[in-house]
Amino acid sequence: MESLNKHLFACLAIFCLVNVRSSNADIPAHCLYDSVVGTWRLHEGHRNGTNEIQCSESFDPQSTTVVELSYPNVAIDNYGNAGTWTLIYDQGFEVIVNGRSYFTFFSYEVNGDTVITHCDRTSVGWSHDVTSRNWACYYGEKDVALKPRMRKSNSFVIPKDAKHREDPDFVKRINEAQSSWKAKLYMEDDGKPMEEIVRKLGGAQARFTFPKPAPATYETKLRARKLPESFDWRNVSGVNYVSPVRNQESCGSCFAFASAAMMEARIRIKTNNEKQPVFSTQDIVSCTAYAQGCSGGFAYLIAGKYGMDYGLVEEDYNPYQGIDTACTTPKDAPRHYTAEYSYVGGYYGGSNEENMMLALVENGPVAVGFMVYPDFKQYSGGVYQYTGLSSRFNPFVIVNHAVLVVGYGVEAETGMKYWIVKNSWGDGWGLDGYFLIRRGTNEVGMESIAFEANPIP
Ligand SMILES: *[C@@H]1O[C@H](CO)[C@@H](O)[C@H](O)[C@H]1NC(C)=O
Ligand SMILES: *[C@@H]1O[C@H](CO)[C@@H](O)[C@H](O)[C@H]1NC(C)=O
Repeated sequence: MESLNKHLFACLAIFCLVNVRSSNADIPAHCLYDSVVGTWRLHEGHRNGTNEIQCSESFDPQSTTVVELSYPNVAIDNYGNAGTWTLIYDQGFEVIVNGRSYFTFFSYEVNGDTVITHCDRTSVGWSHDVTSRNWACYYGEKDVALKPRMRKSNSFVIPKDAKHREDPDFVKRINEAQSSWKAKLYMEDDGKPMEEIVRKLGGAQARFTFPKPAPATYETKLRARKLPESFDWRNVSGVNYVSPVRNQESCGSCFAFASAAMMEARIRIKTNNEKQPVFSTQDIVSCTAYAQGCSGGFAYLIAGKYGMDYGLVEEDYNPYQGIDTACTTPKDAPRHYTAEYSYVGGYYGGSNEENMMLALVENGPVAVGFMVYPDFKQYSGGVYQYTGLSSRFNPFVIVNHAVLVVGYGVEAETGMKYWIVKNSWGDGWGLDGYFLIRRGTNEVGMESIAFEANPIP
């Protein structure tokens, strides 16, 4: 799985950064708050670029900004200006201070099946004014060196010829073990290459531990108490604001579909359904260095950062193929931009049930990531909760999947609270392409890392 397609040796004036991208995995860096907080030096090249700047190559550092990052989201530069920052999962960070934004991934190397992450330095990333002018390349280094983190690559090694098997006994055991939700066989998946199924479920990407949701503040709880008991953007007083369910097929592009679906719904909401663009997920797969194509990516960097820095194009300009391709989006395709974006709660790990409900009702659907366990694939209805069961046929893999929360409710009979979630596995899966999942207990990470972006219609 870990075949390497790109070795980028970015030789800088002071030292050489080695940045190895693997072709079949999301980037495997793994850095958490405890290693990232502290003082960073951000070394920038000439601030004379546009968003066409290529920041994977060498550049000449021209200036250095010193910035102190503290938990959870305060960034202060060497002149005392206060800004914000966030981790982007455990893979990178974005700092916004003194009118400039700095985004990059942490530096790492892959050596055989070992991943060596340097949480005290970054790969070459992008900086620009918050108005998207004066682009530059930059890299960051911490003032104190940290020991590199070594760990076994946790990309799953799936034999090339392994086939997925739908397992009647597995489905039977799920249905016998609990009554909250129903499982069924999806025979159309039977016999498909295992690799394809795993990529659809979330990609054979580095698995990360989800942060615990931040406790809701008193003020948030008060505001959330005034919300309706149930809410669904597919039916607000009889009006549907959610675009049709799509199918990502066997490409690990869930993050692109969740991003596009959020922007589509929010534009419908903001224009009272007058504008109904459908966005090109292939453009996201093929045209941005902010994600890794069919190998994965994050909604924060797509609906958020890519939407703001480059803009999304409509489906017709680059129709979905579900494979990694060269970028074919015409240069003059009209673009739809993002006005603002953030993790719900303001930083990675800042979301919780209450602030997600508020963001959802006040602003529109929110994107979330969660852990897909093998039983989830068989979901056909009811309120999903992880059963702990797995199939005898297929290897036990847990992957990360991105989806769109469009509503919430409470089951009449059991009183169980749930989220209503739009998936991107076609409308033949689950409840016409949707699923319900337990709410209020951070089920499989659902309430850990909610994210929202506001499109400009
Ligand atoms: C920016 O400045 C550098 C150094 O003077 C130069 O090499 C580069 O071509 C310039 N780039 C643009 C886009 O003007
Ligand atoms: C929308 O919700 C209302 C009230 O709950 C319900 O009567 C109606 O049938 C729903 N419409 C659709 C299209 O589901």
